[in-house]
Amino acid sequence: MTQGGRVHRGKAGPQGAELSSRADAATADGRVFPHRFSAPRHRGRPIGVMLLAACLALAGLALARAAGVPDPARQAELRAMLLQDCGSCHGLTLKGGLGPPLRPEALAGKPRDFLILTIRQGRPGTAMPPWAPILKDGEIAWLVDELLSGRALREGER
Ligand code: HEC
Repeated sequence: MTQGGRVHRGKAGPQGAELSSRADAATADGRVFPHRFSAPRHRGRPIGVMLLAACLALAGLALARAAGVPDPARQAELRAMLLQDCGSCHGLTLKGGLGPPLRPEALAGKPRDFLILTIRQGRPGTAMPPWAPILKDGEIAWLVDELLSGRALREGER
């Protein structure tokens, strides 16, 4: 029993050594792994910065959309709306109908802010409805600039 135990321990000795050498190998691997994984972590930092920059750019875009110039897709919608919806009262070529003409020569001399206010709040007591529930301030200002410049009109109708 004692001998067997010794023999067992004797057998266990080399096994233990084998294990510990495997453990050493694992430790050596372990040293390699954190090193290997540290490279992507370094690369990860610029990606984080880029993501942050992208988020800031998107937030900036959202702000610009709320307060400033509408994006090209929205501009196309607004232009169509101007001739169809506004045109239903102001004339399809904005020469006037139920509402007065909105061509540049008709609006010349009328303050931009006054026109913006008219579109935003409408003219109570007249057929001109308020557009604030549907249009953002930036969109209304853009529409007024389109009207004043004549860009609102189709080529050939200017
Ligand atoms: C339901 C008819 C109707 C619609 C739709 C309508 N308007 Fe008007 N609008 C009028 C009338 C009527 C007036 C004149 C009000 C008055 O007598 O002061 C007017 C006045 C205006 C004026 C002031 C013009 C000036 O010479 O002082 C502007 C600018 C204007 N509308 C822009 C628009 C725009 C832009 C739209 C579309 C987003 C629009 N309107 C849609 C009926 C309409």
